[in-house]
Amino acid sequence: MIQWNSFYAARAQGDYQNLVSTLADSIVQMAGGFPDERVFPGAEALEAMQSLYEQAGPALMQYAGPIGYEPLRQWVAERAGGSTALSADHVLLTHGAQQGIDLIARMLLDPGDTVIVEAPTFHGALWVFQSHGARILSVPLEQDGMDVSCLKQMLADLARTNQLPKFIYTIPTFHNPTGYTTSLERRVAMLEICSTFGVPIVEDLPYSDIWYDAPPLPSYLELSDHSVSVIQLGTFSKTLCPAFRVGWMIGDESFIAKTIHFKHISDTCSSLLMQRTAHELCSNGFLERNVSKARNLYRQKRDALMEALARHPIEGASCSRPGGGFFAWLTLPAGMSATVLKKHALEAGVAVAASPMFYEEEGRDHACRITFSCPQAAEIETGVGRLATAMNRLIQQI
Ligand SMILES: Cc1ncc(COP(=O)(O)O)c(C=O)c1O
Repeated sequence: MIQWNSFYAARAQGDYQNLVSTLADSIVQMAGGFPDERVFPGAEALEAMQSLYEQAGPALMQYAGPIGYEPLRQWVAERAGGSTALSADHVLLTHGAQQGIDLIARMLLDPGDTVIVEAPTFHGALWVFQSHGARILSVPLEQDGMDVSCLKQMLADLARTNQLPKFIYTIPTFHNPTGYTTSLERRVAMLEICSTFGVPIVEDLPYSDIWYDAPPLPSYLELSDHSVSVIQLGTFSKTLCPAFRVGWMIGDESFIAKTIHFKHISDTCSSLLMQRTAHELCSNGFLERNVSKARNLYRQKRDALMEALARHPIEGASCSRPGGGFFAWLTLPAGMSATVLKKHALEAGVAVAASPMFYEEEGRDHACRITFSCPQAAEIETGVGRLATAMNRLIQQI
């Protein structure tokens, strides 16, 4: 048998973990960022497909242009709002936001180029930047956003050696994995800093529609006035369903026009059938109704998580209270390893994600991401109870 190891490209040399592995039914799934299947548009999607097929016939199943279905691009452009008038030419439809991250990296990153991320950040983005051979620098993320003075200092140092980053990747609203939201003050400060140094911002916004306490703050795209280039990513994975694989990228027309080539290289085109189905669900009012149903459902789960954590207090631990999205960030008591806890928690019957996967640097083993979107409220209580038992056992050993 061939020894594949000696054939792998440099980017494929590491050992990679699979977070989306199948778990036994007895385990409460609070690791992967899965939506609740009750928000998926089952009957409505089938109905939309049937009616589209009656109108368009087999052409619905044909190859399509890589940029994506024009009326949906127009819908995305109108919804993104802001002072800048956007048109369909500012929008490329992607195979989920994940592909958007990869396309941006293909467009902007040569091996060795610098990119700045929040610490912690979305592991899916880290994997993309690593696979493109980027030099990834991290700025600490606080409850109200990136540490802007650290960012400013880092950019000043990089400017001195002519190594300014190609872009800053940020998840400003209902962040994955922490659930934090960048305050308006920090957004404005970030824009000012990026304008001074001429660095683009890539903002990833998969969760901004899923808010619980107050509507989301204006995005960087909305706040920017052309002095900073902002590329924004979005997706229907959380508001309709991940299986559609319909996401989008919004940016300068010239950037989008060039990205089309790389979208073609990546997968020729996304599915016209799914893009048109998504468009139908946007235009016939289903999406808005579904989003408000999703908000209510996930708000109850967020509350169930907060109540369960209050019922099972763990000395020295603290948890974020997300204003939206799917995730909360549990900081562990001093000296407790998240990697060890993850194993013990799994044995106790609950899956959580340990912090190291969300950091570029080694050794950040002090926290867990708790996903509350997937389990039902009663399962959240069970899961937190199991996690607390595992933690209390580990505390004895510290
Ligand atoms: C921050 C962030 N970006 C991108 C994605 C990818 O989403 P999609 O399903 O649209 O590819 C996710 C999914 O969990 C995410 O949390």
